[in-house]
Amino acid sequence: MLPLDASTYLLVLTGAGISAESGVPTFRDAGGLWEGHAVEDVASPAGFARDPLMVWQFYSERRANMTAVAPNAAHHALAEVERRLGDRFLLVTQNVDGLHTAAGSERVIEMHGNLMRSRCSVCDRAPFEDRTAYRRGVAPMCGVCQRAGRDALLRPDIVWFGEAIVAGALPRIETFVDAAGAGLRFLAVGTSGLVYPAAGLVDVVRARGGRSWLVNADAPANARSFDTVTLGAAGKVLPEMFA
Ligand code: OAD
Repeated sequence: MLPLDASTYLLVLTGAGISAESGVPTFRDAGGLWEGHAVEDVASPAGFARDPLMVWQFYSERRANMTAVAPNAAHHALAEVERRLGDRFLLVTQNVDGLHTAAGSERVIEMHGNLMRSRCSVCDRAPFEDRTAYRRGVAPMCGVCQRAGRDALLRPDIVWFGEAIVAGALPRIETFVDAAGAGLRFLAVGTSGLVYPAAGLVDVVRARGGRSWLVNADAPANARSFDTVTLGAAGKVLPEMFA
């Protein structure tokens, strides 16, 4: 049970596990996304430079799969807590599936980008919504660059290995933690605790004297850093978690 009162500032971190019950495959579980694909091939700038068609095929399949996907009870539980806490709530997600926003969450930082957006791999035009699942063998080009006489590929607006997380994410978290003071509470849900900086948030909270909760299907790499660990499915645990 995670008690909420008038002084509570709740920082939440979610990973692929929170969307598992919606039918979105996780990254590292059996049957997960990387199966059959080397991470460096589909989630790195070098992989994209080597074979953009294959990378676009991978993300196009993921876009196509999202049409049948909806938020589950865990996403809804977090949206409900946010309605109670307002600005004393901040949700940081490593997921690119957009399901928190679909559930009604508003104070969301998508630190690894969003599957349903594209951006140019060359020019600095703003990322834009793009739900297109491109046909096999088609790699889309940037229209802005084409009009300027350049050929430039579009790419998914996703943070790949070796790239910086979404600009402004860390300062926004820092501001929230500063405002929280002694009321800081941290909840991590459905994440393997392997990918930084997300995996280090629990240590930031501990250093500030905040209390921490973890809800995960199994004990992840950084489980010992949390004050309270609940092993179980997020869709079952979260709706009963907030007092
Ligand atoms: P992982 O696939 O590494 O971990 C998912 C975690 O969720 C595992 O620890 C599972 O045990 C747990 N899990 C599975 N089903 C669950 C359920 N129903 N309820 C609760 N927990 C469940 O995914 P992430 O930790 O999100 O980065 O991976 C972090 C990052 O690694 C991703 O954002 C991605 C990847 O590289 C980028 O793409 C930059």
